[in-house]
Amino acid sequence: MAKRCSLRGKSTMGQSILLGVSGGIAAYKSVDLVRRLRENNHTVRVIMTSAAQSFVTPLTFQAISGHPVGCDLLDAASEAAMDHISLARFADQIIIAPASADVIARLAQGMANDLLTAVCLATTAPIAIVPAMNHRMWHNPLTQANVARLQQFGYAVWGPDEGAQACGEYGLGRMLEPDAIVKHIENKNSVTPIHSKTIVITAGPTREPLDPVRFISNRSSGKMGYALAAAAAHSGAKVILISGPTALAPPKNVEFISIETAAQMYEAVMQQIPHCDIFIGAAAVADFRPTAVAPQKSSKNDFSNTLALTANPDIIHAVAQFKPKPLTIGFAAETHDVKLHAMRKWVDKGLDAIIANQVGLAEGGFDSDVNSVDLYSANGATHFPQQSKTELAYRLIGWISNYYDKQTKDSIKNIG
Ligand code: C5P
Repeated sequence: MAKRCSLRGKSTMGQSILLGVSGGIAAYKSVDLVRRLRENNHTVRVIMTSAAQSFVTPLTFQAISGHPVGCDLLDAASEAAMDHISLARFADQIIIAPASADVIARLAQGMANDLLTAVCLATTAPIAIVPAMNHRMWHNPLTQANVARLQQFGYAVWGPDEGAQACGEYGLGRMLEPDAIVKHIENKNSVTPIHSKTIVITAGPTREPLDPVRFISNRSSGKMGYALAAAAAHSGAKVILISGPTALAPPKNVEFISIETAAQMYEAVMQQIPHCDIFIGAAAVADFRPTAVAPQKSSKNDFSNTLALTANPDIIHAVAQFKPKPLTIGFAAETHDVKLHAMRKWVDKGLDAIIANQVGLAEGGFDSDVNSVDLYSANGATHFPQQSKTELAYRLIGWISNYYDKQTKDSIKNIG
């Protein structure tokens, strides 16, 4: 999100970067990393593990970052300054450099026994680890399994480098140089085809009231739609997230419109479409609503055996009828014959692409933090293997961004 305006009045330059420093001689290089990040207009806050403080003092990082350094999860003073939840919210990006074998192991277990690991559990920001350790520790199958597990949950791994090590040995395990780490960050923030484009995303379920107390709805946590909104915003898009009721906090730098019923979602979407470049329908919209809504709570004796229902508008189908229409991407959550149902919806609703996932399995789909999907478009099928919804969202936004770019170039060629 480097160098772009936010919709919620956040800084227009640079990112809010949270640097985690764990125990290792390479911690001294992270002092220079903070300096370079600040030169590139990023706001940097630092958290140190207790082992890190044996190598560099918190005062050094405080002086170079211009902010107090977080050291303790339960320190009353630092809690008052910025607790683990505030730090988790502050971060657009978390980088752990150096990441020791110990912190990697604790993160892979989902532990929260110090400030750094607690923040990593509480954040929705992308996290990158920059490992630094003895080459035999790095190659140890336990470390490799921990790293693989973190990758599976959406962590990026930058490095390590090969070279002479502090212990006098040679091998893979040196922390990347600050320059290389800065390059990783700036590449991530480089301008993408969807930079400054407007993306409207629907997410979560809708609720269709029967009376002021009861409603019918669909199962949906909203996690996939919210992750897509966060990833699109991080890629520089202007994102409008239109969501039904969920337990999630709206992602940073996203315009958030809260609705309850499918009719309200339809109205909200229709207002946005004339100014929108890309539409992603990730909401589980209720196909029907009760025909009559009682003004007061009905007694159970008021209900007969049948419930009269009226069809809701198909929002994404209406979006696909617009001329010119935005790039329109739908989701199909299916329990069986996934490909068949998804392809049918792709054609019937007039979509550019459909993202299909199987639901009703032990892992993936509703409520889960991980998912695997297949995307169908005029380009054929693309499989996205099981991974965290955060990481999957980045991959899907990457695909959508490239497809949007190609479509725009093709239409320019056709005019020419
Ligand atoms: O519910 P269904 O499987 O038909 O959903 C497929 C796609 O259509 C999803 O992208 C969903 O958000 C969208 N949809 C919609 N309006 C509806 C029903 C579904 O936009 N009324």
